[in-house]
Amino acid sequence: MNQNTFFNELWASYTQHTPQALTIERLFLERGEVVVNDHVAFRTFDQSPIDLDSLCRVLSQIGYHPFAHYDFPDKHLNAIALRADDPLAPKIFASELRRAELPHKQQQIIEQLLAQCHITDLSLRDLYRGLAWPTPSHADYLSLAAESEYAGWLATMGLTANHFTVSVNHLKGLSALQEVNRFLLDRDFALNQVGGLIKGGSEVYLAQSSTLADRRPYLFACGTEAEVPTCFYEFALRYPLPSGILFEGFVAGNANQIFDSTHR
Ligand code: NI
Repeated sequence: MNQNTFFNELWASYTQHTPQALTIERLFLERGEVVVNDHVAFRTFDQSPIDLDSLCRVLSQIGYHPFAHYDFPDKHLNAIALRADDPLAPKIFASELRRAELPHKQQQIIEQLLAQCHITDLSLRDLYRGLAWPTPSHADYLSLAAESEYAGWLATMGLTANHFTVSVNHLKGLSALQEVNRFLLDRDFALNQVGGLIKGGSEVYLAQSSTLADRRPYLFACGTEAEVPTCFYEFALRYPLPSGILFEGFVAGNANQIFDSTHR
């Protein structure tokens, strides 16, 4: 599989969970905007056949290599940034939950899900196939999400793009993040307000905003149907470093708030 096929398949799967992304993309295209993808994000469990090391291994098949790593102590996450040699290729932000930092009960729930995980040798296709284990029971989901929204999300959604990101640098008419946010709010899209609409700014060389995740009815293993958050759409404006080169990395403070876009 080549890079283009991978991102096309990933987008097709992501937009099934995230119809708002298709709508927003169409609205942008209708006003003559150029929609370029800045990055996609994945979430996963550490110490498993789908951990960050495994993700790095399969993503290297399409030319990606890690160039930075991040720590989110409050959310119990490790994260890495990956890029390809082509500077126009989207970057990838991948995080993993440090399971051992959760209380014993939640660790056991995840352990049971992973014991039924059908992936032994991760492939690129697995990154957009969603759940690789049976759906959790509603009680287990609520228990996980109460302790870690990230864990609850991952248990119900599995491997899929958690978000795609519009590069605001490439937009023509909506050249500031404030204008993008105003455009979306005027059309009744709900945005992540944690820490303000815009996370970061020129001082950290990266400004970001995001929608709140779409929601859909979900059938839990116990037969209960309830709504769960799915995925969201992000908007990123990158600033040049003092060297003149556009900043390529991520900012832990921004990302920490962007994670909250999938809170229930
Ligand atoms: Ni992001």
